[in-house]
Amino acid sequence: MTLRPMGAMTGSVRIEPNRPVKLTAALATFEQLWSPRIVPRVNDYDVRVAKVAGEHIWHAHDETDEFFLVIDGELRIALRGPGTPGPDQEAGEREVVLPAGAVFVVPRGVEHRPSSPEGASILMFEPTGTPTTGDRHEDIPVHINTTTGHALD
Ligand code: NI
Repeated sequence: MTLRPMGAMTGSVRIEPNRPVKLTAALATFEQLWSPRIVPRVNDYDVRVAKVAGEHIWHAHDETDEFFLVIDGELRIALRGPGTPGPDQEAGEREVVLPAGAVFVVPRGVEHRPSSPEGASILMFEPTGTPTTGDRHEDIPVHINTTTGHALD
C-alpha cells in the first residue's frame, strides 16, 4: 500500500444519499481556511467541516446554539458577555481549549471567537443558513469570508 500525504488527495467527494462520507476525504478536497463545507444535511441542520488556523472574529449567533467537534488539532474558543457558560461568567472573557475528539456548544447569543494557533480540522452542526460570522460581528478582515457553508466539490 502506498502512503500519501493528505494534501496529495484531490478530486471530488460525492455526497449521495445513504452513502458514507469519510470526513478526512472531504477535508482533503479543499484548503481554504474558515470556509466550511457542508457534508450531509440533517433535517434543517447542516453538518459542516472546516479547516481553521489563526484567529476568526468575535461574533454571536442570536437565534441558535453552535456545536463544535474537533477532528484534528486543537481549537480554542474565546467567550464573553452575558450567558457565557462556565463558573467565571461574571468575570467577562474566558477561553475553552478543545483537543481532538472534544465537543463544545456555544449557546445562542454568546459572543465567541474561535482560534487555532497550530491549525485544526473541525466539524460544526447548526441550522442550515447560519452564517459563519453570526448575526453580530466585529469588522471582517480579508482572510475571513462570510458564508453559510459551501457544497463539497
Ligand atoms: Ni460562531
